[in-house]
Amino acid sequence: MIVVLTGAPGAGKGTQAELLAKRGGFKKLSTGDALRKHVKAGTSIGKLAGAVMERGELVSDELLFSILREELALLSEGELILLDGYPRNIAQAEALDSLKSTHPVKAAILLDVPRQELVARLSGRRVCGGCGATYHVKEQPSKVAGICDKCGGELSQRPDDSPSSVNVRLDIYEKATRPVLEYYRKHGVFREVVGVGDPESIYGVLRDTISGF
Ligand code: AP5
Ligand code: MG
Repeated sequence: MIVVLTGAPGAGKGTQAELLAKRGGFKKLSTGDALRKHVKAGTSIGKLAGAVMERGELVSDELLFSILREELALLSEGELILLDGYPRNIAQAEALDSLKSTHPVKAAILLDVPRQELVARLSGRRVCGGCGATYHVKEQPSKVAGICDKCGGELSQRPDDSPSSVNVRLDIYEKATRPVLEYYRKHGVFREVVGVGDPESIYGVLRDTISGF
């Protein structure tokens, strides 16, 4: 069973997916994280995807579908899966539906955040190079500036959080990903959750919304 967590870049998908995985019994599957692992390891997929990601564009649907299937194959059958970052266009939503005999989509939830706030979040985001933990210089700062609270690793900016890539990502979200919301609305599995406010409160609403299905 799959729950799709969707939303614009910076909406808090990763932050909430982490909480749902830690406390909500979900297995988290983030296509962005999977791609970044490939880039870091220098695999052939990483070489294909790295420059595309840095520009803020979408990596090809074929590559993403093969990554999705690979990652799903690592999880046991019957697992409750939280999908962060997939699908990002209608073709990907249809590709996901082709797996519905084993992985039906139970719910698709939008974390709704205004564009102005998204830009502020992305420009202040810092990520640990060691364990991948996410911070924000103002909203969720680490105890010691530049150092991860969890593993002591060094914090840095994601390459695609530069102002030019952020604009590309937000525009692509509007054009390619927003129609996916309507797709799931038509399938009767769509809900919206306000993504502004304290992450803990948002988590509570999200968890209750998912339980309502
Ligand atoms: P991906 O990694 O999925 O990036 P994204 O969708 O752009 O989303 P982000 O990870 O930037 O934001 P988020 O919503 O996870 O927010 P976060 O919790 O970090 O994809 C990266 C790239 O990979 C794509 O551009 C594309 O190239 C490729 N890709 C991935 N999937 C693909 C696909 N299916 N098809 C094709 N290409 C694909 O939070 C952001 C910041 O805000 C943090 O600093 C956080 O601390 C802070 N924050 C979080 N919640 C709050 C809150 N409630 N209040 C204040 N601050 C908050
Ligand atoms: Mg993310």
